[in-house]
Amino acid sequence: MTGDNPDVPDLSTTVGSLKLKNPVTVASGTFGYGQEFQEFYDPSILGAVFLKGLTTRPRTGNETPRLVETPSGLINSIGLQNIGIDEFVQSKWRELEKIDSAICANLSGDTIDEFVELASKACTVPIIRALEVNISCPNIKAGGVEFGRSPAAAREITRRVVEISKVPVLVKLTPNVTDVVEIAAAVMEAGAAGVTLVNTFLAMAIDIERRKPVLTNIMGGLSGPCIKPIAVRMVWQVYKALKCPILGMGGIMTGADALEFILAGASAISIGTANFVNPTAGPDILAEISEYCEPHGVKSIAELVGAAHAA
Ligand SMILES: Cc1cc2nc3c(=O)[nH]c(=O)nc-3n(C[C@H](O)[C@H](O)[C@H](O)COP(=O)(O)O)c2cc1C
Repeated sequence: MTGDNPDVPDLSTTVGSLKLKNPVTVASGTFGYGQEFQEFYDPSILGAVFLKGLTTRPRTGNETPRLVETPSGLINSIGLQNIGIDEFVQSKWRELEKIDSAICANLSGDTIDEFVELASKACTVPIIRALEVNISCPNIKAGGVEFGRSPAAAREITRRVVEISKVPVLVKLTPNVTDVVEIAAAVMEAGAAGVTLVNTFLAMAIDIERRKPVLTNIMGGLSGPCIKPIAVRMVWQVYKALKCPILGMGGIMTGADALEFILAGASAISIGTANFVNPTAGPDILAEISEYCEPHGVKSIAELVGAAHAA
C-alpha cells in the first residue's frame, strides 16, 4: 500500500535502475513523440513513454503499402520513419517537457558507431530518463535485426552504449531467434539495466488477386494479440534463466494480458498495437491492473513480478 493511503495498492516499480510510478508504458512506434494521444488523455498518467525510434538522419521510411491487418494482428514495415536525432535534440523534446512520465528515447543505428552517436546525443536532452536500444527492427536492411541475432554484436553494442550513457540502458531484443535467453544474457553481462521483450515477429502476407506480397518491403513485423502467447513464453524463459529486469510487451490489450506478463517476470509492460485500436488503452489497462490488486490481496506490484514461477 502507498504511504499516503493504505487502501491504494503501490503500483510503483523499477526496470533495473529506471524508476517508474506504475508499470504501464507505451511502446516505441505506437505513440509518436508523446503529443499524438493528448486529445484522448494526459500521458502523465503513464509510467513511461517510449518515443518513436530515432536514427542518425531523418528517414521517410519504406514505400507504401507498409501496413497490413491480419486476424488478430498487424504487419508493419514502416522502416523507422522519423525526424532524426538532431531535430529531436535541438527542438522536438521541448514538446514533451510538460509530460510527468519517464520519457525514454528509442535508438536505431546501422552500425555500432551510429548507436554510440545516437546515445551520446540523446543523453544531452535533460528530460530523457532512459535509452532503449533497438537492436531488433526487422524493417531496415543494414544492421538492424542482425545485431539482435548475434550475442557478440549485441554485447558489443550494449557495452559501448552503456559506457557513454548517463541514464539506464534497456536493450530491445528481437523474438526472431532460436534462443532469446542467450542474447538477453549477453546484453545483461555488458551492463544493460534490463531487456525489452519483444519486438515484432518477421512476417508477410500475399495479395491473391495481384499474386504479389502485400507489403512493398515484402516482409514486415507482426504485432498484436496473435503474438502474445509467444511473447509471454519469452519473458518467462528470460526471467527463469536470468532473473533480470524485463519490460514486457507483445499483444497486450487488457489489464489481464498485462498481468500475465508481470506474473511471467516483467516488472513493467508496454502497450503497442492496442493504442491504434483503443486510444485510451494506457489508462484503461492501468485501471484494470489496479482493480485486480485489492480483491487479490495485492499490496504492491512488486509482489506479482515473476510470481508465476513460485514453486
Ligand atoms: C507501427 C509500428 C511501429 C513500430 N516502431 C518501432 C520503433 O520505432 N522502435 C521499436 O523499438 N519498436 C517499434 N515497434 C515495435 C513495438 O514497440 C512493439 O515492440 C511491438 O509492436 C510488440 O508489441 P504490440 O504487440 O503490443 O504491438 C513498432 C510497432 C508498430 C506496430
